[in-house]
Amino acid sequence: MNFDSDYYKLLAKANHAELQQRQEENVKRLTSLKKGIRSLRERVESLAHLKADHLDFSGDVVTIGHADEISPADQQQLLAALRDFMPWRKGPFSVFGIDIDAEWRSNRKWDRLLPVLPDLKDKVVADVGSNNGYYMFRMAHHNPRLVVGFEPYLHHYFTFRMLNGFAGCGNLELELLGVEDMGLFRESFDVVFLMGILYHRISPLECLKEIKKSMTPGGTLIVESQAIPGQDPVALFPEGRYAKVPGTYFVPTGACVRNWMIRAGFDQVEIFCSHPMGSEEQRCTEWMDFESYADFIDPQNPQLTVEGYPAPLRVYLKGMV
Ligand SMILES: C[S@@+](CC[C@H](N)C(=O)[O-])C[C@H]1O[C@@H](n2cnc3c(N)ncnc32)[C@H](O)[C@@H]1O
Repeated sequence: MNFDSDYYKLLAKANHAELQQRQEENVKRLTSLKKGIRSLRERVESLAHLKADHLDFSGDVVTIGHADEISPADQQQLLAALRDFMPWRKGPFSVFGIDIDAEWRSNRKWDRLLPVLPDLKDKVVADVGSNNGYYMFRMAHHNPRLVVGFEPYLHHYFTFRMLNGFAGCGNLELELLGVEDMGLFRESFDVVFLMGILYHRISPLECLKEIKKSMTPGGTLIVESQAIPGQDPVALFPEGRYAKVPGTYFVPTGACVRNWMIRAGFDQVEIFCSHPMGSEEQRCTEWMDFESYADFIDPQNPQLTVEGYPAPLRVYLKGMV
């Protein structure tokens, strides 16, 4: 990325010197890859000639190209490449006519946000933990000036690079950075999406405070989190895994997330949605053939995880800077 580019002009208050150093480190990381990841990079490069004419991000399925836009040989090569990028966690996608039914029906999460979605037109937006970019494409439908995805994992980075290589959306960028790096982007984002992240943070409050610093005055934060049932502002702290997922720290009630957001300095904080998780939304498919939600829940009692903790809800909150 050229530091005189529009991208950095839009992020005028970001710490450009530090970002440049991080990018140089990432370039080294991307060129000295281990075999598995290197083969993903080579896949992306081998398909760089495919450019989609037809894009549709308005519906449940992120559609990038139609089947008749590419040759049968390219179609075959593409299918093999898409299979190499398994497991597909977020979706659904249709890529040059190949349908990818991902583990998560991510369209459902997006639909729950729509009633409170701020106007994204011409806004600078951050999607934290952007994975393969499913939500970034859905955001692109609303004509933002720029969406920056924060995603530290190379597998997701290359999946997004491949998809956006086909789609060619100039207003979508992915940084190989984590939420812990958002302090580098002072007063940069009008809207931040923080979905599926807070319960993976050792200090959710510090995380929210850093995010607030990255936002412009008047900005909107949308939080979505795994949660436990209850009205009290408390959080479960599992001894080890929660629903088989390692790296899970505080699993809060909705009221607890609300208090975290208030104490991190957000205004007008509201819980706008809460629902139990279920295997109709997160499940094993032919594009994600590992264990999924049904395997994380006590088969005798769907109110409990396999560890005996309360089974998860998902909560959604909005707050203003
Ligand atoms: C539970 S998924 C949520 C994905 C998506 N935001 C959603 O709501 O469906 C967590 C995502 O955060 C990414 N992630 C892991 N560590 C992270 C970090 N330190 N900062 C930001 N994202 C991270 C993971 O790779 C993964 O894509």
